[in-house]
Amino acid sequence: MDYSKRTKIRSIVVDDQVEVNSDVIILGLVRTVRSSKNVGFVEVNDGSCMNNLQGVIGDQSAFPVLDEILTGASVRMKGKLIPSQGKGQKYEIEIHELDLIGQADESYPLQKKRHSFEFLRDIAHLRARTNTFGAVTRIRSKLAYAIHTYYQDRGFIYIHTPIISASDCEGAGDLFRVSTIDPLDPPMIDGKIDWDKDFFATEAFLAVSGQLEGELMATALGDIYTFGPTFRAENSNTARHASEFWMIEPEMAWAELEDDMDLAEDFLKELLKFALNECSDEMEFFNKWVDKGVIDTLEKVVSSEFERISYTSAIKILEESNEKFEYPVKWGSDLQTEHERYLTEKKFKKPVIVYDYPDEIKAFYMRENDDGKTVRAMDVLVPRVGEIIGGSQREERLDVLQRRMKSKGLTGSADYQWYLDIRKYGSCPHSGFGLGFERAIMYITGMSNIRDVISFPRVPRWAKF
Ligand code: 4AD
Ligand code: MG
Repeated sequence: MDYSKRTKIRSIVVDDQVEVNSDVIILGLVRTVRSSKNVGFVEVNDGSCMNNLQGVIGDQSAFPVLDEILTGASVRMKGKLIPSQGKGQKYEIEIHELDLIGQADESYPLQKKRHSFEFLRDIAHLRARTNTFGAVTRIRSKLAYAIHTYYQDRGFIYIHTPIISASDCEGAGDLFRVSTIDPLDPPMIDGKIDWDKDFFATEAFLAVSGQLEGELMATALGDIYTFGPTFRAENSNTARHASEFWMIEPEMAWAELEDDMDLAEDFLKELLKFALNECSDEMEFFNKWVDKGVIDTLEKVVSSEFERISYTSAIKILEESNEKFEYPVKWGSDLQTEHERYLTEKKFKKPVIVYDYPDEIKAFYMRENDDGKTVRAMDVLVPRVGEIIGGSQREERLDVLQRRMKSKGLTGSADYQWYLDIRKYGSCPHSGFGLGFERAIMYITGMSNIRDVISFPRVPRWAKF
C-alpha cells in the first residue's frame, strides 16, 4: 500500500495547499462513523491539526468493510477532495477506496465526546488522541520552537548542561540520587555509606537546575540559555509541581537585576504573542473548551507593563489588604500561593515581578544588597498559576560569596571551587532566571493541572507509562 503518498489533513484544511477535485490519500484514526440509508460518513483525525476530515460514501453496499470500522480504528481512505455540503467544514472526501488498517473494538476507551482529565490521566498512552491533548501536545512543540527562536535571534548560545550533577543548585535538598551501589549491600566506612566506592566516586544526583554550569558558560560566552529537563524530589502533590519538568534558563554576563527583569518580561510577552499569532487554532480551542477568555487575558498582558514591586512593598500591600489569609503575612517568610494570587488576581490583575527578597528564604548564589538583609532576587508571578519565573543577579564578589556560602552551611567549599573560580578569575556581574516550561504552558492554554501539559507526567507515586 502506498502510505508514502499520504496527504496530511493540515495541508488541506489549515494550509489550503490541496486543490479541489484532486485525489488524496488520508491515513488516520476514526473519530466517528455514522451511516443512514443513503449515505455513510467516516470522520478521521491524523494528529496534524485540530480538524478532522470527513469521508463520504454514497453507495454503502460497495464498502462492506464499513461495518467493521468503529471509533478508534486506523484507516486509509482514498478519494476526491470536494467542497463540503455539510456545515462546519470546508472540505470532505468522496471515498473511492476504504481500508481498515488496524481494528478497534467496543472496548476502545475514548468513546465519548468528552472525558474528564482525571480519567484521561490513567490512560496517558491514549490521551494524545483526544482534541485537548492533541492541542496541548502541538502547542508545546510549537512553543519549544519559539523559545529557541527567541534566544537564537538575540545571539544567546544554547548550552547543554549535565543531567547528572554532584551539586545541589537550589540548596533545597530535594534531590533524586543517582547511584549504582547495591542498596542491599552498600560499601560502608565508619558506619556510613562509602560514596567513594560509588560509580562517580562521589554522591551524585539528577540536576534541579542547569544554572551553576550556565553561569560558567555565560561568563565565557556572554549570553547563553539552557532548555532541558530538571528533577525535584519534593513531595508536594499540587497542581503546579512535577518531579520532572522542563526549564528554560537564560544567563547573561554583564547584566544586573533590572536587565534580568526586562528580559523576563519581554520573553514572556513574545511567547504569548507567538501563541496568539502562530497557534490560533489551538488557542481558539482552549478559549472555547478549557478557559473561556484566555485569549483576551493574554492579549491584555501582551499590551501592558508588568507590575514591579519590591518584596517589602508586597508584604505591606498584603498586610493592608484586610484579606483573611490561611498563612500569616510576615516580613521574612515566603509568599504562599494565596498571597501570590491576591497580588496578581485581585490587586494588580496582571503579572507582577517581586524583587529584593529576604536573604533567608533565597539561595546562596544571589547577590547581597547593601542593606545586608535582602538579595537581588526576582520572581515573576502570574494570575492563576502563581510563580512562573524565578531568577536573580548572582553574587560576583568572591569574598561575599564565600561568606554567604559559609553562613548557609555550604561546608566543604572545595566541592564548589569551580563555581568560585569564575569569581576569582575575571569576575563580572551576571544575571539569569528559570522559566518553568509546564507552568508557561498552563498559563498560555488555561489548563489547570501540570499533569495535563506534559505527555507523561512524573509526580509523587506516579511514574507510569
Ligand atoms: O525558582 P526556581 O527554583 O529557580 C531555579 O531553579 C533557578 N536556578 C533558576 C535560574 O535562576 N536559572 O525554578 C524556576 C522555575 C519556577 O519559577 C517554576 O516556574 C519552575 O521553575 N518550577 C517548577 N515547575 C514545575 N514543577 C516544579 N516542581 C517546579 N519547581 C520549579
Ligand atoms: Mg522559585
